[in-house]
Amino acid sequence: MKDSIQSAIVPGATDCGHIRAACRRVEAMSASLGNPVQPPTVFELEEALGKRVQTCELLGRNWRNSVYRVQLANGDAALAKQVVMGTDEMLQCQYDQLGALATLQIPGLRVPKALALLREKRVCVMEFARGKTIQALVRDRTSGDDLISACKLAGKILAQMQIARTEQICPIPVEALARDLAGAPWHLSSREQTILASALESLAGAKVSIGHLYYDYTPDNLLFENDQLSLVDPPDVSRHGVLLWDFSCFRGSMRRHLWRFSLRRPFDRRRAMIKEAIALFQRSYLTSFDKPYPEPVLFTAATLLFELQRTAVLLTMQKGKVNLARQRLPIARDRSLGNSLANRIMLPLQEMEKRWLFLEKRWLFLQLARELP
Ligand SMILES: Nc1ncnc2c1ncn2[C@@H]1O[C@H](COP(=O)(O)OP(=O)(O)O)[C@@H](O)[C@H]1O
Ligand SMILES: [Mg+2]
Repeated sequence: MKDSIQSAIVPGATDCGHIRAACRRVEAMSASLGNPVQPPTVFELEEALGKRVQTCELLGRNWRNSVYRVQLANGDAALAKQVVMGTDEMLQCQYDQLGALATLQIPGLRVPKALALLREKRVCVMEFARGKTIQALVRDRTSGDDLISACKLAGKILAQMQIARTEQICPIPVEALARDLAGAPWHLSSREQTILASALESLAGAKVSIGHLYYDYTPDNLLFENDQLSLVDPPDVSRHGVLLWDFSCFRGSMRRHLWRFSLRRPFDRRRAMIKEAIALFQRSYLTSFDKPYPEPVLFTAATLLFELQRTAVLLTMQKGKVNLARQRLPIARDRSLGNSLANRIMLPLQEMEKRWLFLEKRWLFLQLARELP
């Protein structure tokens, strides 16, 4: 089982197969349902950390991870992240990546120090990062200036990370991208197929930076406090690919937050502020490079293409989540949601999320069409 998850996600030299990897990961995860893991105990945490622990409190849980706040007797706090579905290798990779990121020494960037591993519980313990996530700043009424500063800094830090991690500059691997997009869990209209083909053709000559991706450089993984950003949720697989992917992840997630906010509060003036924060993220990113890749005229089309690929990854995972929920709650298999509260609430929410991603795909195609010559 472990081998199947790991082999599913080992990347090639320049890995563009994010959708394929997501499909295999979902398959491997549904097969690992029968491999549950218990929460870490205070005693186990004390042994691993070599320090007195007062409490270990669940902060959040999703289908992949559980996250605990660990209160130490000396007043410090730590965070214990438990890989609920995944392998020992994925746990080790997260631990190692925290160390690797810290060595980059980028101004304004903090990386939580890795403190311990509890292998039998698949738990990685790290420093507790202070501050609010950028996602929380989007929602927060009182933090407009912080949102602007955080997004500006997020752009600058991402550019510095990419400058440090660039290993080669080469043409965008359009064929590999086309192959991966062909495996997306959606149907393309003939117009969308034409747009995609022309986008790939226009981008075929574009040069991009290749190196180690962060993969999940998103507003919910960046915590802002005192003009610094802490980057959490390190990669659980080392991926080598087009670095623009990370830019597209952040901008795409911010746009999604903006849309949700606009739906809830269509007349709120903070919508303009969120838009400005996204624009400043992009500007501070771009102005950090002496020579930008790809060239400015192709930048928008290239980033939209990676946003499209990321939307397909999210859709693949979302479909996997719905299937997992059905496996766990057998009554829901035939769409009869029964009386369980979990069934009644969770599945419709997951289905809504899927529909949202389909709308996003259509929107991205429209934007891509506008960028074509
Ligand atoms: N070291 C940390 N310090 C403080 N909060 C953290 C830390 N790591 C994670 N978190 C919080 O927990 C949330 C979920 O953890 P994360 O590692 O991002 O897992 P997931 O893969 O489930 O997104 C993050 O969005 C962040 O709010
Ligand atoms: Mg996260």
